[in-house]
Amino acid sequence: MIKNNTLDELRSERQKWMSWKNIKPLRQMLRKLPKDIDASVSFDDKIEIIGKFNNFQKSYIKDVALSLKPWRKGPFKIDELFIDSEWQSFFKYNLLKPYINIKGKVVGDIGCNNGYYMFRMLKENPAKIIGFDPSPLFKTQFDFINYFVKSDIVYELLGVEHLDIYDVKFDTIFCLGVLYHRSDPISTLKSLKKALNKDGELFLDTFMIDGDEEICLTPKQRYSKIPNIFFIPTINALKNWCFRAGFSAVEVLEIKKTNLDEQRKTNWIDGESLGEFLDEDNPELTVEGYPAPKRVYIKALC
Ligand SMILES: C[S@@+](CC[C@H](N)C(=O)[O-])C[C@H]1O[C@@H](n2cnc3c(N)ncnc32)[C@H](O)[C@@H]1O
Repeated sequence: MIKNNTLDELRSERQKWMSWKNIKPLRQMLRKLPKDIDASVSFDDKIEIIGKFNNFQKSYIKDVALSLKPWRKGPFKIDELFIDSEWQSFFKYNLLKPYINIKGKVVGDIGCNNGYYMFRMLKENPAKIIGFDPSPLFKTQFDFINYFVKSDIVYELLGVEHLDIYDVKFDTIFCLGVLYHRSDPISTLKSLKKALNKDGELFLDTFMIDGDEEICLTPKQRYSKIPNIFFIPTINALKNWCFRAGFSAVEVLEIKKTNLDEQRKTNWIDGESLGEFLDEDNPELTVEGYPAPKRVYIKALC
């Protein structure tokens, strides 16, 4: 009972974030989206919404999409409007797809951003999809796309740290691109483990460094110009973290360097992208002199 009260209090506290002065006008724009649109959606590499929109509606939808910048994850297409996100998120989703078996399962995407992967998962017919992300902007992007998709995906404005008080347990959790943002990676993994059912599985990707040793890089300030990157482990160190968090087995699915096909500057973000994060003379290094971003994808079993 205490748990539920805390969760409800947290939800209503975070609902207030939707009234922040940078978010409120976006929410108002969403309320004026065209009504009674009969749209069909295809959930392929590009998530495409096809409907019959008149010119006024098309122009309004474009205004809303532009106001919701930056679009990190995607791409999406709404009628002729192509939202060319910074990340070609299908690289990551397609890499994981052969390992995913979520039919009839309760699935969590922790750090779900605008929900790109959750939309793609709909095709696999899971019993339920719940996304966690504490960003009101990304939730607003999700609500914008979901206005047309009309899915029953649940989006919680919560963080991985709230899994401990969450009232649903998951069969499969995806926690992609989040662990390096945590200053407490082992307790984060513990929270993920505790949120899983007995035979549950975790799909996770994180930055890694090469080597057999059980060590990790701790950037002094920024890594690849990103301020909140705390620990970048070798694969063996990552496995140790998982075992210490209580997982019984860890399978390495893939190791992949991020390249400019996957992450690049587009008109849908205002700032810089990977091209500016690497050393001009040596793309094997970040501008700070650390090894360039490389990710390991794992599946950890309870
Ligand atoms: C690097 S992005 C990764 C997005 C996506 N999962 C992917 O792999 O493409 C990190 C995401 O984590 C979200 N995030 C930030 N703090 C978080 C927290 N405490 N718990 C869960 N997600 C968080 C951010 O809003 C952002 O959407």
